[in-house]
Amino acid sequence: GGGLPVHRALLSYHGWIFESHGKMSTSTKLWLSLVKMFSGRRPLLYSFQASLPRLPVPSVDDTIQRYLESVRPLLDTKQYNQMEILANDFKESKAAQLQRYLILKSWWATNYVSDWWEEYIYLRSRSPIMVNSNFYIMDLLYMTPTHRQAARAGNVVHAMLQYRRKLERGEHAPLRALGTVPMCSTQMERMFNTTRIPGIETDIVQHLTDRKHLLVYHKGRFFQVWLYTGGRHLLPSELETQFQRILNDTSEPQPGELKLAALTAGSRVPWARARIKYFGQGVNKASLDAIESAAFFLTLDDEPQGYDPAKTRSLDSYAKSLLHGKCYDRWFDKSFNLISYPNGKMGINAEHSWADAPIVGHMWEYVLATDCFHLGYTEEGHCKGDVNKGLPCPSRLQWQIPKSYLSAKQIADDVDFHGCLFTEFGKGLIKKCRTSPDAFIQLALQLAQFRDQGVFCLTYESSMTRMFRDGRTETVRSCTSEAEAFVRAMEDAGATKAQRLALFRKAADKHQNMYRLAMTGSGIDRHLFCLYIVSKYLGVDSPFLKKVLSEPWKLSTSQTPQQQLNLVDINKFPKYVGAGGGFGPVADDGYGVSYIIVGENLITFHISCKFSCPDTVRAQHKSYTSVFMLHLSQLSDLRSVFHSLSLSLYLPLCYCLTV
Ligand SMILES: *[C@@H]1O[C@H](CO)[C@@H](O)[C@H](O)[C@H]1NC(C)=O
Ligand SMILES: *[C@@H]1O[C@H](CO)[C@@H](O)[C@H](O)[C@H]1NC(C)=O
Repeated sequence: GGGLPVHRALLSYHGWIFESHGKMSTSTKLWLSLVKMFSGRRPLLYSFQASLPRLPVPSVDDTIQRYLESVRPLLDTKQYNQMEILANDFKESKAAQLQRYLILKSWWATNYVSDWWEEYIYLRSRSPIMVNSNFYIMDLLYMTPTHRQAARAGNVVHAMLQYRRKLERGEHAPLRALGTVPMCSTQMERMFNTTRIPGIETDIVQHLTDRKHLLVYHKGRFFQVWLYTGGRHLLPSELETQFQRILNDTSEPQPGELKLAALTAGSRVPWARARIKYFGQGVNKASLDAIESAAFFLTLDDEPQGYDPAKTRSLDSYAKSLLHGKCYDRWFDKSFNLISYPNGKMGINAEHSWADAPIVGHMWEYVLATDCFHLGYTEEGHCKGDVNKGLPCPSRLQWQIPKSYLSAKQIADDVDFHGCLFTEFGKGLIKKCRTSPDAFIQLALQLAQFRDQGVFCLTYESSMTRMFRDGRTETVRSCTSEAEAFVRAMEDAGATKAQRLALFRKAADKHQNMYRLAMTGSGIDRHLFCLYIVSKYLGVDSPFLKKVLSEPWKLSTSQTPQQQLNLVDINKFPKYVGAGGGFGPVADDGYGVSYIIVGENLITFHISCKFSCPDTVRAQHKSYTSVFMLHLSQLSDLRSVFHSLSLSLYLPLCYCLTV
């Protein structure tokens, strides 16, 4: 739309977010129609970028006050008083100087957080990205549109090429909060043609524009597949032929080729060194170039995966396969790996530095809907369209590898996963009780954590800051004093249902409010993180910031949002629901929990932790298997807590439905 300054001024208003649902004020309604008017009728993906407001720097006083409030339930009085002294000392001595630099930065940078966040949280981290940083997204939960591996990959890759073309033309509808307020699309720019390149001190993200081939891995061999013929994309049936040719190819891997990709799974420094030493020239350089410059990476796996109600832990092994596979069959540095299984199921493993999960999720929603509802399959399960045998065959990459590298198997074997479908009730009932589904689940997680570990812990929930230019995420510290009070009431046999419900409401409201503050630029953690980075640049030592930044997130959580509800009519096609995705635990002795709320009656959880968790109880068990068993029982406890929670909350919820 025209009138940029007006539009930006309009978009800088965030008061609507704090109004409770269904009770929109007249001024907010008026404001929404103005936003709509300035948006034009069919805006392009990037139309609003220049009108998006800049992320504001909160005041130090506000951030510190919110921080202290957030750690109150986690500290005893003595510890809390010490923390207060540290914080106040920081406020009075160094804060003003650091804050000045930050405000200065916020004037010239489009976003005062995002470049540092990418660099310091992702690219400078020297630990393996597999499990620790990359995340995965699953296929449709119940449906597999064809059981032919090559055909499914054919449709899905073709749908991705369509998505990519729409992306470069900006033809996707801009993402919006509240259906109207545009969100930033910057992160989508590096979805394709992108690789993370390892370096000794820091990695970089390499994005190229002219990428016309795909890299395919199958049984230890790397193949290059051209995506264009005669100036157009390969059709699904042509892609199917190419993938079938690879599946049919029985040639052996070259020496060292089988486990080559394990380099991308291990620590970054050894990989950077090996890359310089062995991949700087000759065939190795050419082949590595072909991988790193591919549009994306496809793995044709040889073992079936997917949710199977008849098999316990089928979702768990599917999750582990997507997150790390065999450690040498995914190229973890690519912006994403598409993974294809012999039973037709698929999934995605995504690198995290270039974007957050909702970005990849947006593409995946589009691809699944296009695959099932637009491209479709023949009755025999092949891609539609003529078979074209005239295409040149996929070519194999050549390598001269001096020795094979150790695989990163230890890291992968250490991850325990548990996927669970919660079907007793879902968003439908929760909303009828006029509660935010997210707050509901976060409180359930607090209760589960307390029942599992007997203590409260620092909890991370990610929220988006994409209503601001180049915004990424902010942390919601969802273990609040109000949540603690609610959990204690749940555990106190003497507490009445009415008391529990009242505490639940209070805690849910608190959570909602924190979430809204985070989305509108008044969070805690990104501000403190940036103050810390400034302190490092200036060589100013701050015990307070050091302490804040070193506190581990023992419970790390994230909701996978559903973004394009218009693509699939869930009421008409209830089986076409996504299974969401997940990530590894952030702390060695903590849990990672990701969840997706689909339709009215399904919540899918993805829970992860490490077998090697240095928890005192677990450390007593010496043998691997007993630790394994113990962990399993811990995870199923967590699951059973969800179940008992549903029962214990169900009654008060029904009660509030009837009043
Ligand atoms: C990726 O490469 C393709 C093919 O050359 C190009 O058309 C496209 O603009 C690139 N996409 C992005 C998002 O950079
Ligand atoms: C793959 O092998 C099967 C069985 O040998 C054969 O029928 C089919 O034509 C082959 N497909 C391609 C694309 O080469």
